[in-house]
Amino acid sequence: MILVTGATGTVGRPLVRALRERGATVRALVRDAGSVPAEWDDGVEAVVADLNDAGSLLPAVDGVDAVHLLTPVDPGAAGQARNVIDAAAKTGRPRVVLQAAIGVGRRTSPVRFFAAHAAGFAQVNAAGLPWTVLAPNGFQQNFLGLAASLRAGILALPAGDAAVSYVDARDVAAAAAEVLTTEGHEGALHELTGPEALTHEEIAGLIGAVLGREVVYRARTPDRARTALLDTGLDEWRASGLVELYGMYAAGEAAAVTDGIPRLLGRPARSLAAFLTEHAPALRATPTTSQERPA
Ligand SMILES: NC(=O)c1ccc[n+]([C@@H]2O[C@H](COP(=O)([O-])OP(=O)(O)OC[C@H]3O[C@@H](n4cnc5c(N)ncnc54)[C@H](OP(=O)(O)O)[C@@H]3O)[C@@H](O)[C@H]2O)c1
Repeated sequence: MILVTGATGTVGRPLVRALRERGATVRALVRDAGSVPAEWDDGVEAVVADLNDAGSLLPAVDGVDAVHLLTPVDPGAAGQARNVIDAAAKTGRPRVVLQAAIGVGRRTSPVRFFAAHAAGFAQVNAAGLPWTVLAPNGFQQNFLGLAASLRAGILALPAGDAAVSYVDARDVAAAAAEVLTTEGHEGALHELTGPEALTHEEIAGLIGAVLGREVVYRARTPDRARTALLDTGLDEWRASGLVELYGMYAAGEAAAVTDGIPRLLGRPARSLAAFLTEHAPALRATPTTSQERPA
């Protein structure tokens, strides 16, 4: 039995699917019983718990062989990671696959979103649980959240002129499923990237080709980007965190292309061009959510 936290999210959903395709039984942590996806079959046991509520996590971790520990981008995420690991250590000795981010252990740019990964890693070690770390680069899916601005012909980010090897979150999920269902990953750190690193100017060109119009990259200053994010209603913690994240990109710390996906999955990582082509309808469609946050 494998516990997946964040099971309804960008990585969690395809991870539950990938685990079921491999025949694994899954316990999927959800905050709300009403948010259980229709596609979950009898091999998926939904357990209602909250990462902030240590008591609710004990039944969630009880009896599992492995935990995919995915914490949300949240100011409380470090405590949430500790809660899951403490509960796991109390009820057994499951393997923990920790979803972190690119550059873990060597990045020099501070990114507040990643504090939870470090906290989780420290706690797993303190608890003496066997671990594997997955460190993906920025998700290709993030571009879907910029669709309104892209339709207006602008890709505006505080990412400077550095290249980034964005990865498809479905590849991250597939890699996690491989690590969770096969042996030999204890103590390993797998950095997961797309197959190439592209500058945002190059990415704007790809998006323009998909949209059939010119899309121009505008490198924003951190201050201007933060103000624009705050103007969309984003809170200070997330706005500043996003600016830090893109600052890390601008510093060239997300440009490496690794063999993590091909090594784990025996096939190339999916390209950003293929992702954008596949999601052309969503990029072209009139927005239906308030999630869009052009910077
Ligand atoms: N986005 C990127 O480009 C990127 C790149 C590298 C690493 N990462 C890392 O990946 C992680 C995020 O993964 P993701 O993008 O797949 O997440 P996501 O799509 O934002 O989904 C977050 C998940 O966490 C659940 N959740 C939130 N608060 C919770 C709580 N208090 N108790 C229980 N569940 C809770 C959500 O459930 P609900 O459905 O109930 O909201 C959802 O399933 C972060 O650690 C981030 O640093 C992200």
